[in-house]
Amino acid sequence: MTRHFLKDDDISPAEQALLIDRAIAMKANRFSEKPFSGPQTVAVIFDKTSTRTRVSFAVGVADLGGVPLIIDTGVSQLGKKESVADTARVLERQVAQIVWRTYAQSGLDQMAANSSVPVINALSDSWHPCQLLADLVTIKENFGKTAGLKIAYIGDAANNMGNSYLVACAMAGMSVSVAAPKGYEPDPEVVARAKQIAADFNAEIVVTSDPQLAAASADVVVTDTWISMGMESEAKQREQDFAGFTVDQELMEAANSEAIFLHCLPAYRGFEVSAEVIDGPQSVIWQEAENRLHAQKALMAWLAEQN
Ligand code: CP
Ligand code: NVA
Repeated sequence: MTRHFLKDDDISPAEQALLIDRAIAMKANRFSEKPFSGPQTVAVIFDKTSTRTRVSFAVGVADLGGVPLIIDTGVSQLGKKESVADTARVLERQVAQIVWRTYAQSGLDQMAANSSVPVINALSDSWHPCQLLADLVTIKENFGKTAGLKIAYIGDAANNMGNSYLVACAMAGMSVSVAAPKGYEPDPEVVARAKQIAADFNAEIVVTSDPQLAAASADVVVTDTWISMGMESEAKQREQDFAGFTVDQELMEAANSEAIFLHCLPAYRGFEVSAEVIDGPQSVIWQEAENRLHAQKALMAWLAEQN
């Protein structure tokens, strides 16, 4: 069975821990592993815009001795003239892995079901698991561990980042507190899954509408845009709905004094986070952005060994 990475818990907590450590080791010795020597090609497909994911996969595949083939679906047949299944059958005969940023998770499921090479989710409407690997690498670099820490996610908990924080951080042994306004709470199934995982670690999963409560004693404070890709038509309504959910200095003061601030980026200063926080001393967002490269290299190298 081909291993894929379509959502955070497609790997076990032990495998996640191994990938975090491998990413840190690969960061220290950047050109040490060449699983794609040949060179083999990795297809990196985008249905949505991207800066970090595009750059980090392109650079990462090159670092691993391969060639990245970046495909924007605006200029390919996928999604218009050709099905996902037929696209997978063409790609699997030529590329070593398939990386795809898309809308519905079901598209990724179809791609994986028809591909004998690993498929990696580079963000869907439901999950952003590569971002979480990078965030966990960043947390481990800053604290020397992940288990036993508390993360507070403030904002749109019904989106891809909310889902991935709940599940991936629970897998890393972290307690997760989520603060979201009414109508933007996490999917109860995702909360149930996070609670099931957290029980193995004695960690706690809390969902509240009170940002101060969520941030209290947190080691890590995170947020994300209020207007995810595809939600642009709701921008005005969302700006009203999320009033009071900005991560500002006052909220950071509820967290531990050593707390770090993370944001997957792109960020909208003055909306989900104040400029003072994101550009301040507790913010490690550039380290986090760089870690996309190292985390995804560890993931691709590991997937190459599994299949
Ligand atoms: N965080 C993230 O995925 O950034 P991009 O949308 O720029 O790829
Ligand atoms: N939730 C955001 C994440 C961007 C990396 C989006 O989907 O647009």
